[in-house]
Amino acid sequence: MARRLENRVALITGTGKGMGRAAALRFAAEGAWVIGCDLDAEANASTIADVQAAHGTMHGMTPVDLGDPVQARQWVADAVAIHGRIDILYNNASACRFVTIDQMTDDDWYFTTRNELDLVAHVTRAAWSHLCKNGGVIINTASVAGHGGGVGGFCHSTTKAGVLAMTKVMAAEGAPHGIRAVSISPGMIETPGSADQLAMPGVRDMLMAHSLVKRIGRPEEIAGVAAFLASDEASFITGTDYLVDGGLTN
Ligand SMILES: NC(=O)c1ccc[n+]([C@@H]2O[C@H](COP(=O)([O-])OP(=O)(O)OC[C@H]3O[C@@H](n4cnc5c(N)ncnc54)[C@H](O)[C@@H]3O)[C@@H](O)[C@H]2O)c1
Repeated sequence: MARRLENRVALITGTGKGMGRAAALRFAAEGAWVIGCDLDAEANASTIADVQAAHGTMHGMTPVDLGDPVQARQWVADAVAIHGRIDILYNNASACRFVTIDQMTDDDWYFTTRNELDLVAHVTRAAWSHLCKNGGVIINTASVAGHGGGVGGFCHSTTKAGVLAMTKVMAAEGAPHGIRAVSISPGMIETPGSADQLAMPGVRDMLMAHSLVKRIGRPEEIAGVAAFLASDEASFITGTDYLVDGGLTN
């Protein structure tokens, strides 16, 4: 079967762990030339080694803190210097804090907005002129949290709702340049990033009670949807969100 992303230059953020790592492996298997980055140099080196062991192509810069606009711009510039263009930008990386309003500190708010919203803005703005040259695809990771609000989700639901809105603006402004922009809203997925939440008493039972698919999702299940959305098979899809949540929000 033909590989869906043959020779596409794909920038993926947060490739050290979780869904970013799964996306790097899947996109490379689909023929993409992956350029990753992560705060965690060791984890990212392990992803690169695994991609290369599977005969894929991946470069990765580390450590890169995308919440810092200077580092975000540098990462994009370094990435463009490798292959001369960007075909796919996958804004996956983020970090957040769950805390109730009465307990929340200024730092909780600024940490979450910096690492869930600012980093998408910094990277997208840096990549925009390159994407405008030949068109391309932007995939942003939102969340079921952006579609609703639960206890402790003040910061996270706000930022992920922001990612949903950003995606629509990217789609509107990108369309004349041949850019499609789509967000994915995962439900609960088993990753290092969700480990603390999943370890909280009662959380797994609550999820199983409300989910139609009676298990936690796998990072590969998000990577598969992202690979489809990045491919030409999704050429009529833009400005929308894909819920991939096992029916949790149903
Ligand atoms: N895991 C879930 O259940 C779940 C559900 C809905 C949405 N999401 C979203 O999916 C995406 C991936 O989540 P995950 O669970 O795979 O996370 P994860 O924590 O397992 O992996 C995220 C990676 O991004 C990197 N990263 C974080 N901030 C960074 C920064 N400022 N600069 C560079 N790298 C940075 C981390 O070092 C890490 O390697 C995130 O946007 C998250 O909000 C996750």
